Amino acid sequence: MLAIRLIAEPDRLDVLVLPVRTADAAAGGDTSAEPVSTAVAPPDGTADEAAALVPAARLSGRAGEIHTQLRPGRTPGRLLLLGIGDGDEAAWRTAGAALARSAADEIHITIALPEGVTPAAVRGLTEGLLLAPYRFRMTEAGTTPALSSVDLLLADPGAFEAIVTTAQTTAAMTHLARDLTNTPSSLKNPQWFAEQVASAAADLPDLRLRVRGPDELAAEGFGGILAVGGGSASGPRLVELDWHPADARTHVVLIGKGITFDTGGISIKPVPAMKLMRKDMAGAAAVVAATLGAAMLRLPVRVTTLAPLAENMVSGSAFRPGDVVRHYGGTTSETTNSDAEGRLVLADALAYAVQQLKPDLLLDLATLTGANAVALGKRTAALYSENDQLAADVRAAAEAAGESVWRMPLHGDYVEYLGSEIADLYSAPAQGAGSVLAALYLREFTGDLRDRWLHLDMSAPSWADGDHAEVSRGATGWGVRWLLRWLASVD
Ligand code: BES
Ligand code: MN
Ligand code: ZN
Repeated sequence: MLAIRLIAEPDRLDVLVLPVRTADAAAGGDTSAEPVSTAVAPPDGTADEAAALVPAARLSGRAGEIHTQLRPGRTPGRLLLLGIGDGDEAAWRTAGAALARSAADEIHITIALPEGVTPAAVRGLTEGLLLAPYRFRMTEAGTTPALSSVDLLLADPGAFEAIVTTAQTTAAMTHLARDLTNTPSSLKNPQWFAEQVASAAADLPDLRLRVRGPDELAAEGFGGILAVGGGSASGPRLVELDWHPADARTHVVLIGKGITFDTGGISIKPVPAMKLMRKDMAGAAAVVAATLGAAMLRLPVRVTTLAPLAENMVSGSAFRPGDVVRHYGGTTSETTNSDAEGRLVLADALAYAVQQLKPDLLLDLATLTGANAVALGKRTAALYSENDQLAADVRAAAEAAGESVWRMPLHGDYVEYLGSEIADLYSAPAQGAGSVLAALYLREFTGDLRDRWLHLDMSAPSWADGDHAEVSRGATGWGVRWLLRWLASVD
């Protein structure tokens, strides 16, 4: 990952970046943008050059706008004017992302930050710089962009160290979630995923890991995970990762859907729908990465993370449409569509959390339905909760982090569709709205935590078809960024 340094005096100056903001409309005047006065005076007349270039290049100052000025034979050799919009955190994030893409062929750049710059702005800039250049490649040599270090020039570097560390941890854990999700399923089976968690957790104090294999799952009655994993040559696992700092007051349980590949099972998916199903563990990747991040940042909240891991395959040992599954704790589901597998593994994990872990708050993240994208498009997750405060807090964290959620209704009217002739519940009703029904099904497993539970259907934003701002194409690592913000605010 790109190295970020905070400095008060440059020791090298190849490329200097000066911010330009959109001018205050009320101030009038004939330019639409203006250079920002920087905390440390920029060298060799560059401030005057910037002031002259803004109108000459007709810059607007919008976040992410970049103008490159060559200065042959002088230092710095290149001057970059970087639009920062109104200078809020989101605008800086967009600016940082655009800069990392546009300066990918530079080796070292120096950014002169504005006088009075806020920690939020530095966080946005750092996250944008670190997140945008991500690429997943499985080639021998790999391809790392040339840009390897960025100096942030400001008057009091010490005051910003903690925020930069937070941003770096957030980006590193987002990269981990992206890597896990992008990895092909020929490598990524449940055992492999559990091993990745073990190696990532190995050196972190106060973090405990337990991995249950098929025998333990059977002994304890995790029938949903066993049914879904039954058709695969790679047996299922349940990862339980516990970050338990001494000063924790609140206990949060995070659950992430971990289907390492979803063929649909006997109710097999058509070719186009199956193409990207290696990403069907993006929820598990996000909650694991966020928990590791919480441990790295030593956030004062207890987080127990459950990742039910299974491969939903077609074989002679696969579960069948119409089978009745007995979940952890005894609730039964009639399973007429083996492609509605995510909710079956989540049901076990939810019931286990409610009965054994008894947390204060219970959240689950899952690539649960194609209907998420039908309702909200490709960038927004569907949020479900009966708890207005929790829903508002998660929404605020997502907004601040630059991740998009929209709250959806848990319609009471549809609950009747979950009725089964032969079991407690029917897992794949044909009526009602797909994402809502899946949420209503999960709610049945939340017991006394029903009003302290929140569910996110994140199948849409877990993947990006192209680069946009700080998101690069492929797995997005969606959820890690807001989870770390939200966990830092829980008390
Ligand atoms: N993993 C899929 C959902 C999905 C679809 C994720 C597209 C990402 C992109 C899930 O297991 C699934 O197959 N859901 C079914 C539910 C249905 C059978 C009730 C769906 O959405 O069609
Ligand atoms: Mn499925
Ligand atoms: Zn699935």
